[in-house]
Amino acid sequence: MRIFASLAVVAGLLAGGSAMAADPIVIKFSHVVADSTPKGQGALMFQKLVAERLGDKVKVEVYPNSQLFGDGKEMEALALGDVQLIAPSLSKFDRYTKKLQVFDLPFLFDDIAAVDRFQASDIGRSLLRSMEKKGFIGLGYWHNGMKQLSANTPLRMPEDAKGLKFRIQASDVLLAQFEALGANPQKMAFSEVYQALQTGAIDGAENPYSNLYSQKFFEVQKYITESNHGVLDYMVVTNTEFWNGLPDDVRAELEKIMGEVTTAVNKMANDINERDKKRIAESGSSEILTLTKDQVSAWRKAMAPVWTKFEGEIGKDVIDAAQASNGAS
Ligand code: LMR
Repeated sequence: MRIFASLAVVAGLLAGGSAMAADPIVIKFSHVVADSTPKGQGALMFQKLVAERLGDKVKVEVYPNSQLFGDGKEMEALALGDVQLIAPSLSKFDRYTKKLQVFDLPFLFDDIAAVDRFQASDIGRSLLRSMEKKGFIGLGYWHNGMKQLSANTPLRMPEDAKGLKFRIQASDVLLAQFEALGANPQKMAFSEVYQALQTGAIDGAENPYSNLYSQKFFEVQKYITESNHGVLDYMVVTNTEFWNGLPDDVRAELEKIMGEVTTAVNKMANDINERDKKRIAESGSSEILTLTKDQVSAWRKAMAPVWTKFEGEIGKDVIDAAQASNGAS
């Protein structure tokens, strides 16, 4: 009897031991937007490719729409190992590196192609490693798109924004951008924006069409000004210790998959934004205003002081390299 009992214990331990060895590594990928957006689609594609190629070793769980962690909490969760992948917008790294503030400078990039060229440049690539000492590694840049201004009054000239309350992401550059217009910027988590617009706690915001559509902001904003005044892009980041602790073959395959997903997201982001612009236009809920060249120049001029204010923190070399990406072939 005693022998049987001991054998059962040994068998149990063996079974438990082998089950533990076979447990897949879980990667929780948390983000704040809808599945239908460029980032949402990228996260799902990453999950699918990992299941196909590393299914027995790695399991990716995707948590969209601030379900698991919202703004303000996700970096902390990554540092603590509560999630393994996040992709905050480049505006949300203020506290960790000042260099990424370059992406928030108004009217710096002519279009998303210029952003793409800068991200692929040596300086752009080096910024992926700018938070290594803080325990984070950037695995790639994902596009969303150019930001548009929205409000309940038509914004055609910079003066139209004066005195209005705008929601901004947690970025001091964006704070300075709206202050330069004489507006009142308020830092606020993404998940709170719809309600704040709906109740009138804020008057306006800035976002690419994919967020304006998927979060239904267009239903609570009468006008969208196609200003293309800045970019909203992401850095996919992981925890350095977690990433370096992965088995070499697993890490290499994950990096390969991330590279493929990055290419795919950056190819489709523009189409998603165009699709959502069309949906908003067709809805009739919100009027899309286009600006004349002179109007664009006026916005550019009004926001220009922001550059000088942040040149010291960002570094002139970084700003120059970003600027050089405009119009390059
Ligand atoms: C925002 O807060 O407006 C965006 O960064 C949300 C996102 O992730 O696109």
